[in-house]
Amino acid sequence: MPRLEQATEEAVSAAVQCLRRSGVVAFPTETVYGLGGDTFSVSALRTIYELKQRPADNPLIAHVVDLAMAEPLLADTSAETRLALLASRYWPGPLTIVVRKHAEVPDEATGGRGTIAIRAPRHPVAQRLLQSFNGPVSAPSANRSGFISPTTAQHVADDFADVRDLLILDGGQCVVGLESTVLDLTNRTPRILRPGAITAENLRDVLGDVESPDIRIQDASPGTRASHYAPRTPAALLQRDELVATARASTDRLALIVLAPLEADTPHAQLLMTAEPRMYAMQLYRALREADALDVKRILIERPPTDDDPRWAAVHDRLTRATGRSLGQTRSTPRPYS
Ligand code: TXA
Ligand code: MG
Repeated sequence: MPRLEQATEEAVSAAVQCLRRSGVVAFPTETVYGLGGDTFSVSALRTIYELKQRPADNPLIAHVVDLAMAEPLLADTSAETRLALLASRYWPGPLTIVVRKHAEVPDEATGGRGTIAIRAPRHPVAQRLLQSFNGPVSAPSANRSGFISPTTAQHVADDFADVRDLLILDGGQCVVGLESTVLDLTNRTPRILRPGAITAENLRDVLGDVESPDIRIQDASPGTRASHYAPRTPAALLQRDELVATARASTDRLALIVLAPLEADTPHAQLLMTAEPRMYAMQLYRALREADALDVKRILIERPPTDDDPRWAAVHDRLTRATGRSLGQTRSTPRPYS
């Protein structure tokens, strides 16, 4: 059984002790919960891969409190101007930046790659943990590889129910609710590898030109399996009218993730979402997990607005993946979605 604890001062210092002994702990960030270990401890990093059942070539994000804590991770100063500009604007926050790594950073922290992903989370508990540990903490999302990221401490406890004594710091519901934007700075033109709450427009404000590939045109997200983020129950993304018709015709009980309730006498389970991009993002993984737990034949998801509001981009990306088994070819490294 994991140890789920309110993130009191004592619990945070127990977590720091654990990190110092090369252990791993789960902690909240504003995006999703992370499963963290000392970036410079090979044994901690190996434990993370083992617990997550994550492919060894899928690199981790190093979490820092600020740019100063990131310094020992950097190979050189070539990316530093852009890194510093981005950090001053969007850190702490849901932006992960990929740069060339320092030779001292263990291969296990970067899936053997010459680059490293770095992020300064905004959640106060993550910040207290990092400050008090006084060094970078590498952490993927605290879910088993390929499934839905956790947005509450209980989600982590559910996913790692078999891991004895795993310390989970409870910092409440994650307010962003989707994983951070991943931006690659290692090429001349910065490139978004994974959309998140910091939008392409936000990044262009600081950097000018930014590539933001469309995931429907593959290769947009190198190494991504389209089925990442998928619930175990088959899920489909439908327009409202299609969803209503499919639900009416279905003799099996379904879970419906909708923006407005269907008629009161439907036999299906309904999970109501808010039709506003920030709220929707915050609610999505919880809804997918709840729908998955209902033991229904299928999950039908009403497609949220596809208007020009860029804040929907990350939501559409994750919904496409949650329902995207048909795109499901496996790809080479790295996988920005696991
Ligand atoms: O919001 C988040 O980013 C959360 C919280 C815990 O910070 N973390 C998270 O980590 O989503 P993870 O490991 O589940 O997803 C990070 C993705 C990886 O799948 C990986 O493919 C990509 O970022 N990534 C990490 N290092 C990279 C690198 N050096 N080059 C390219 N992509 C990288
Ligand atoms: Mg993940």
